Amino acid sequence: MAYNEKYEEVLKRYQSKNLEAKNAAEARAQELRNKFPEIAEMDAILSKTAIRIISASSSGDNVQQKVNSILEEVAAINEARTAFLIEKGYPGDYSDVKYECPICKDTGYVDGKMCSCLKKELAVAGYQSSGIYKLIQKENFDNFDFSYYTGDDRNNIENIYAASKDFAETFTKNEMKNLLFIGGTGLGKTHLSTSIAKVVIDKGFDVVYETAQKVFKDYEDERFGRAQKNTEGEYPSAKYEDCDLLIIDDLGAEMQSQFNSSALYGIINTRINSEKSTIISTNLTQGEMLDRYSDRITSRLLGNYSVCLFKGKDIRMQKLKNQ
Ligand SMILES: Nc1ncnc2c1ncn2[C@@H]1O[C@H](COP(=O)(O)OP(=O)(O)OP(=O)(O)O)[C@@H](O)[C@H]1O
Ligand SMILES: [Mg+2]
Ligand SMILES: [Zn+2]
Repeated sequence: MAYNEKYEEVLKRYQSKNLEAKNAAEARAQELRNKFPEIAEMDAILSKTAIRIISASSSGDNVQQKVNSILEEVAAINEARTAFLIEKGYPGDYSDVKYECPICKDTGYVDGKMCSCLKKELAVAGYQSSGIYKLIQKENFDNFDFSYYTGDDRNNIENIYAASKDFAETFTKNEMKNLLFIGGTGLGKTHLSTSIAKVVIDKGFDVVYETAQKVFKDYEDERFGRAQKNTEGEYPSAKYEDCDLLIIDDLGAEMQSQFNSSALYGIINTRINSEKSTIISTNLTQGEMLDRYSDRITSRLLGNYSVCLFKGKDIRMQKLKNQ
């Protein structure tokens, strides 16, 4: 699937990362040998260490003693090599293998378990393919501020926040949960959608976040032959039906047309039938939604989605005034 390409990119890069670190170290060692005959000589001896130990081990008597003396010699050469490099103005460990992650040596795994470095990269790949990489950095559960809401609005948003957090933290593929965020401009709908996306991506699910305008444009491009298929032969719109969690922001901002209406019906209906979770936010009131969309759309939205009504004073304006 297209939105997984970034994931695959990361996994692919990890397959060769460990080897590349070793190759880069070997290239640096070769550079030193070309420049300094002393290093070439020392490396020639060091490169025979394993063979010398093996033949000493099978030589009959005094094996331990022979092995020890080889190891001592090797340690002395290594020490001399480091000192030589420092004297020539190089870091002593110039030709050592340098892993980005010393814990897993850039393999991505430790004792068969995924290393935290790989997990982190996959999460970033998830953010990137979700479409909200930048938003996620500044809009998440941690910096959601309740003080912008007063009186009943504050209680209301606390409930919505709790429901959103629960939605994110208990998200699984096995249970369809849908949210419909309704409310005026600047009340935190996008902020909470993004917050949910981050948590769900961190749990390893495929999340797609897109504005309604872009979603419909993708369907339109496809319809009029302007869309390109990805390497797996899928159109961009396939992700809206396939992903684990779809977030459509700003429903109602798109142009009103029969085409858009049937595309919307297609997405909503397909996702309900395949029991995949969706979050939709809109500025439209429930009345406006009933006017604008057909009954088969609104009955699905109001019947299968938990409706969260956002109330309060435009936080964008509040922030401007506070500046
Ligand atoms: N509770 C909050 N704490 C801190 N910042 C917030 C909060 N809610 C919203 N914001 C910020 O205020 C701005 C507007 O919020 P947001 O984009 O979520 O509104 P919205 O409800 O999606 O509005 P619109 O309907 O216009 O899309 C954003 O910059 C957002 O980060
Ligand atoms: Mg918004
Ligand atoms: Zn690691």
